[in-house]
Amino acid sequence: MSDTLTIALSKGRIYKETIPLLAQAGIEPVDDPETSRKLILDTNLPYVKLVIIRASDVPTYVQYGAADVGVAGKDVLMEHGGAGLYEPLDLRIAKCKLMVAGPEGNPPAGRRMRIATKFVNSTRRYYAAQGKQVEIIKLYGSMELAPLVGLSDRIVDVVDTGNTLRANGLMPLEEIAQISSRLVVNKASMKVKHATISAFIEHMSKAVDALHAKAG
Ligand code: ATP
Ligand code: PRP
Repeated sequence: MSDTLTIALSKGRIYKETIPLLAQAGIEPVDDPETSRKLILDTNLPYVKLVIIRASDVPTYVQYGAADVGVAGKDVLMEHGGAGLYEPLDLRIAKCKLMVAGPEGNPPAGRRMRIATKFVNSTRRYYAAQGKQVEIIKLYGSMELAPLVGLSDRIVDVVDTGNTLRANGLMPLEEIAQISSRLVVNKASMKVKHATISAFIEHMSKAVDALHAKAG
């Protein structure tokens, strides 16, 4: 009999981009999280379940073994720190960049620069590595608003097309990291369910290659 396999995914972009990879790996959900209120979804395989959670909660569920594996953006993983997790595979989906952005021109002199972000740890590490003392203001979303209303001088956020920055009169200023989504695995599950999880990683890896070959 197969081990059970619980896969943590977030709704929206990650779900949409992971589903084709899971399908290539032979896993298809029975319900659609965009229309169902269920948080645990059955799949065509009786031993595989999907749990649907906030993007930033995926590493935590996998770290504590509430899910065996999950899909999370590198931005979220950098912020979490990666304790209790293996990161065996770059899924090459949900690509963007973690950036410093702000209005044109220099920040005010004579005081510490204020940076609004939900990526507090990554921001602290980035400026510490440059020996710069900054004040970090924790937000949970709509970071682009902060410089417009005088809450901060800069923001740190993910940028893809740059449309959101442009629409708010802001510019990308410094790149902190290239981001894509990764498969993460609970360290204990990797030991206890070794055959099942190794096979899953292998199937997902082939799915990533196949989808890329198709996309050219
Ligand atoms: P939470 O619900 O926990 O606040 P979120 O709203 O940031 O998370 P999503 O918007 O679904 O969650 O983003 C999931 C992941 O997709 C992010 O962690 C990031 O890696 C990537 N991402 C975010 N925005 C973009 C974008 N505009 N283009 C491409 N990838 C993105
Ligand atoms: C993300 C991010 C930026 C935007 C960047 O927001 O927080 O606001 O994408 O993408 P762009 O450079 O292509 O404009 P998202 O669309 O995920 O909305 P949310 O995080 O507020 O849910």
